[in-house]
Amino acid sequence: MKIKLLTFFALIVFTNIYGQKYEKLALTPPMGWNSWNRFACDINEKLIREIADTIVSSGMKNAGYIYVNIDDCWHGSRDSLGFIHPDSVRFASGMKALADYVHSKGLKLGIYSCAGSKTCGGRPGSRGYEYQDALTYAQWGIDYLKYDWCNTEGLNAEGAYITMRDALYAAGRPVVFSLCEWGNNKPWIWGPATGHLWRTTGDIYNCFDCIKDHGTWKSWGVTYILDMQDSLRKYAGPGHWNDPDMLEVGNGMAINEDRAHFSIWCMLAAPLIAGNDIRNMSKETKEILTNKEVLAVNQDSLGIQCFRYSKNNNVESWFKPLANGDWAMCILNRGNTPQKFSINWKNEKISDKDSGKETNFAKITYRLRNLWTKEEAGTTINSFTTEIPAHDVVMLRLIKL
Ligand code: GLA
Repeated sequence: MKIKLLTFFALIVFTNIYGQKYEKLALTPPMGWNSWNRFACDINEKLIREIADTIVSSGMKNAGYIYVNIDDCWHGSRDSLGFIHPDSVRFASGMKALADYVHSKGLKLGIYSCAGSKTCGGRPGSRGYEYQDALTYAQWGIDYLKYDWCNTEGLNAEGAYITMRDALYAAGRPVVFSLCEWGNNKPWIWGPATGHLWRTTGDIYNCFDCIKDHGTWKSWGVTYILDMQDSLRKYAGPGHWNDPDMLEVGNGMAINEDRAHFSIWCMLAAPLIAGNDIRNMSKETKEILTNKEVLAVNQDSLGIQCFRYSKNNNVESWFKPLANGDWAMCILNRGNTPQKFSINWKNEKISDKDSGKETNFAKITYRLRNLWTKEEAGTTINSFTTEIPAHDVVMLRLIKL
């Protein structure tokens, strides 16, 4: 008994001194909106309030989008005591008032900082101010922190992220901690103990299959990012997600490309952080972002990331095990012309080495549901044949009968 009590107290002392991340947050991939992809530094409190209003009025909140995340450039300067303040013109009412507003809509507010001395946009970073900043965020009512990796010369990545993790924990307000380290120092290894999601790549670029070269760094189109994820699936799960970056849906790609991008992110169990101007989005964009059956694949409670099952020229099939024995399947056509795809289920065994899930089509039959056309598509007793338009997907749910 004495030993048990001692262990208990030692644990309390240990976690208070050394900190930990907030557990039981982000048990499914976080969903929300972020200012960067569409607005970059052109942000202010009016925009954030209007976005919060629109998340509710558009049905996005009902679909599960909860976090309203302010990215880089909200900052003013530090005062003589080192406390950070928001830009006094763009965020004139202050962050506490903004958080109160966002909370009044039943949503949560996220903010951005950087482990370095300056953010990527040249604003004050948190280096040396981690505990003070974490305390400030807690006082404002912040629920989510994206923590970037610019201007970090001489810093150890794992150490820097652990410092902020512990600072957030010490501040006492549960915060989803998003590690934006771009995958340089294998954050999938130390990320699960440190945060709730970690970027696996450099920045996304709103193009299906291009690379944008900025000289010293590159940003990546959708298919490039997809190809960087496959080997990382075993590191992700409830409370700790691979983050292939925020969505570009509604930011200029064709509708079929947006649909493919969104489907892939759902298959990847990726955080779904919309990055478009949702105040002016088209009906088609809204339908993509709020397709509940596709979102259910992303938000599945098992939290297992998809894997590539077949590849034939430009056509790939990806599978994702789901709760209750269901599976999601996404057939992706990367090419520029429509492609036929056919699968004779009884000749296939879909087997996931990492999770141990596998199909046995001779014994278990599944009903096929087409998640974009919202039509029934037969069962696994018969073979399934389809045509996938260029840069598009066909996405199915295999529902165990
Ligand atoms: C980095 C991040 C982006 C964005 C910008 C802001 O590039 O990866 O997602 O936050 O900084 O400056």
